[in-house]
Amino acid sequence: MSRGFFITFEGLDGSGKTTQLRRLAATLEAEGRTVVTLRQPGGTALGDRIRSILLDSRSEATFGPIAPAAEMALMFADRAQSIAEIILPAVASGHIVLCDRYTDSSEAYQGGGRQLGSERILEMHRAACDNLQPDLTILLLPPLESSLHRARRRNQRNVQQRGTDENRFERESDDFYRRIYAKYEEIAAREPHRVVAIRDEASIDQIEARIREVVAARLTPVTAS
Ligand code: TYD
Repeated sequence: MSRGFFITFEGLDGSGKTTQLRRLAATLEAEGRTVVTLRQPGGTALGDRIRSILLDSRSEATFGPIAPAAEMALMFADRAQSIAEIILPAVASGHIVLCDRYTDSSEAYQGGGRQLGSERILEMHRAACDNLQPDLTILLLPPLESSLHRARRRNQRNVQQRGTDENRFERESDDFYRRIYAKYEEIAAREPHRVVAIRDEASIDQIEARIREVVAARLTPVTAS
């Protein structure tokens, strides 16, 4: 059996990556491929617990301020678990793994946003994740202002409709997001083969078409059996 393929989606909150991930999963499944999707943080039983500590804005009332290095280590604890439990077994079985955020998010948010710097994140990635790299990363990087606007609107809607409050990150300042954006740019420039950045503010359908092209160019065609 051939090895599968590991694709990650990256971008700011509100960049539309979750919608695009779902659409790509549907397309690949329609071609007869087996697709495994997950999001980080979360996706395993342990990861879901870690997610609620990390994202719930009430966490700080319980634990006090979460230190940036603690936040980084929790993100990697979650990631190490999903690599062991989901990603490696799926890739070994020849499946396509689509992961909503991965280590680039830690580099952008903790390395850039929280100013821990890239080197600490990359070191942690080697230690906790055995340096497992995606085969391809789709980075959605529309202009910063439109992402911020969408993220804030979505969070208000979630609180009103479902009472969920995952806004510990979304309450951050615009400068925090500017640093994240700059770090994503840096990653894309450093790894142009792995990271395909889509910067235009095209429609959801146009971006979907672009992602399909990029993915089709990298995947081995499905052979009729
Ligand atoms: P989520 O609700 O999944 O947001 P989105 O749909 O925008 O991905 O929340 C994930 C949040 O966690 C998001 O604000 C980014 C942040 N994050 C980090 O700070 N570091 C990380 O390593 C990961 C995976 C996520």
